[in-house]
Amino acid sequence: MYDTDYAAIYDAVMIHRGKDYAGEAARIRELVDERAPGATSLLDVACGTGLHLRALAEHFDEVAGLDGSEEMLALARARVPGLRAWRSDLRRIRLAERFDVVCCLFAIPHLDSEAELADVVRLLLDHLNPGGVLLVEPWVGPDEFLPGYVSRDVVDQGDRTVVRLSHSRLLPGRGDRMELAVHYAVADPEEGLRHATESMRMSLFTPEQFATAFAEAGCEAEHVRTDPFAHGLWIGRRAHG
Ligand SMILES: C[S@@+](CC[C@H](N)C(=O)[O-])C[C@H]1O[C@@H](n2cnc3c(N)ncnc32)[C@H](O)[C@@H]1O
Repeated sequence: MYDTDYAAIYDAVMIHRGKDYAGEAARIRELVDERAPGATSLLDVACGTGLHLRALAEHFDEVAGLDGSEEMLALARARVPGLRAWRSDLRRIRLAERFDVVCCLFAIPHLDSEAELADVVRLLLDHLNPGGVLLVEPWVGPDEFLPGYVSRDVVDQGDRTVVRLSHSRLLPGRGDRMELAVHYAVADPEEGLRHATESMRMSLFTPEQFATAFAEAGCEAEHVRTDPFAHGLWIGRRAHG
């Protein structure tokens, strides 16, 4: 998952969908300013291809990224000149550095269990300076999940066309885990037509599980419903001193 081919497809589809990276970055700055106005450094965990980082660099003096996929990081580095970025599994993140802000956007569903969620929230908080702000984007919970949901994108890139279809289903016997099957095809006048399939399993965490993860890490957190984040953001702050 998130290998070279899919990394480029991910980019093309997200840009085509009009995901508002600039708006999300500006809102993150506002939410941080309400809690830690002097914040200057930010780490984007599971930064993907750097679309947020490019926009966040307009609002923070120093941005850095981390992702488990070298292919996603390669696109992020190309997109954000001079970017400091690490390849690491976010479940085992151990950087020497600390940041005023840590964000983790659209990646938490990749975790396998509530225990992993709690561990990751603790690790993310550990990478904050005292008084720093953690922003974690949730996704749909079991009550909102639509079994059988099909999403479809056709991206016209001039000569090149990218088609992505996905189908979601609950894993048998599980109300809290789903499987996303993705089929995609790329048609290029020079390279011809190729297609591939991917599948990934994701967790449907409840708001209570997020609240528990922050509480177990000793951090007060709130779920803020705010545009342009469809599912809002969980926001916590590392204690001073
Ligand atoms: C859906 S993309 C989101 C990218 C970006 N944060 C955004 O909001 O557009 C999920 C990203 O999480 C990364 N990822 C998934 N599981 C991970 C893990 N265990 N450790 C590090 N990165 C992971 C993937 O490589 C991918 O770049």
